[in-house]
Amino acid sequence: MPASATLAPSGRIALRGDLLDFTGEPEWGEAHTGMVRFRPDHWLLIDGGHVTGAQPATRPLPAGYEAHDHAGRLILPGFIDTHVHSAQLGVIGSYGTELLDWLNTYTFPAEARHVDPDVAGQGAALFLDALLARGTTAAVVFPTVHKVSVDCLFRAARQRGMRLVAGKVLMDRHAPDDLRDDVAGAERDCLELISAWHGRERLAFAVTVRFAPTSSEAQLAMAGALCRADPTLYMQTHVAENRDEVRWVAELFPDARSYLDVYERAGLLHARSVLAHGIWLDGTDRALLRERGAQLAHSPSSNLFLGSGLFDWPATRDAGVAVSLASDVGGGTDLSMIATLRDAYKVQAMAGQRLTAWVALHAATRGAANALGLGHEIGTLEAGRVADLCVWDWAVEPVGRHRMAVARGLHEKVFAWMTLADRTHLVSARVAGVERYARTDPASSG
Ligand code: GUN
Ligand code: ZN
Repeated sequence: MPASATLAPSGRIALRGDLLDFTGEPEWGEAHTGMVRFRPDHWLLIDGGHVTGAQPATRPLPAGYEAHDHAGRLILPGFIDTHVHSAQLGVIGSYGTELLDWLNTYTFPAEARHVDPDVAGQGAALFLDALLARGTTAAVVFPTVHKVSVDCLFRAARQRGMRLVAGKVLMDRHAPDDLRDDVAGAERDCLELISAWHGRERLAFAVTVRFAPTSSEAQLAMAGALCRADPTLYMQTHVAENRDEVRWVAELFPDARSYLDVYERAGLLHARSVLAHGIWLDGTDRALLRERGAQLAHSPSSNLFLGSGLFDWPATRDAGVAVSLASDVGGGTDLSMIATLRDAYKVQAMAGQRLTAWVALHAATRGAANALGLGHEIGTLEAGRVADLCVWDWAVEPVGRHRMAVARGLHEKVFAWMTLADRTHLVSARVAGVERYARTDPASSG
């Protein structure tokens, strides 16, 4: 585990920098909004792992704070990745396939290796440290069908103090032998994992249906029953990502009105449901998502890489459905949420739309937190929130410094940062105030 994994002895630390977060949801297309809160050159005060306040850097710090002076740097809430696969680091950038072939050719064989506790344990540590080294402090994660992969992931998240939502992947058909479970065994695993991990510290269990084609009706019903029995559980799955996939679901579930309706019939749509993609939905689907309070995890890098399609963010937003942002690695090509933000901009540009830096950044911080029911804990730098946050350089090399120097106004500067920055810009990532990533050399970090 990297960096100095301790708090100051007093528990009180102060970080100096340009504080940026949101007090509300920015409007689509508005570069000037009252919802962004920018506090240049302030101290952010942290006590016992929580934000307690902020003050201009011109005011002397109260006594007893350990000061970390990042003047001239950007301080943001930690990013929240609402859909990512911890066992797919080894398939990032796999050539030449769309979703269904990609799963069979690359992804299922890679996931099958996580039956081995050593592979699962090392994979979980590599994955979470890589998230932290890119400024992601909370995530909603698919491990694999194997119980051990979930145990390893939760254990590694607990060691790092992270807010993590995850669950055992359910798949009892249309998958290789070494990745298939059965209804009774899967239910037993889920119940054991729920009692071991759900609600412990910052961990929560998600009923994790891989996608409709790999679960029988009986397994979907079992998953729905788990959700009904405990409304504090999350549910995560994929929906309407790829056109061949949508056609296949229509063949497998001829009675369902749509792909989304398969999940509705099983009782899987509720306020804690996180559905990845949602590219090929219609207005009735979106209205249903809104009615159930479920959210879509938009995964632009994955959608571009796998050639899945262009997500209609404005229609989803107009329908009143929350949209969060997700890397969807290994379909996505980068764990970085900054890369995800700029790919989101490009997807909207292809559809003739303009995504502001504010809508994008909000979706990756406060918006995701609220959609997950975690707004009281993460997503902003508000007093009372857990101090999950990151310190970023505005620029690390001459082109970036030049671009920042000529930017006129805050939106232009933040948008250019979002377009140019990468993980080398990350100086420090803190989880509950504790530094879990610290850059050593700007040229070789992460
Ligand atoms: N649909 C079912 N499984 C997967 C997966 O692992 N990745 C993506 N992108 N889509 C899926
Ligand atoms: Zn996915």
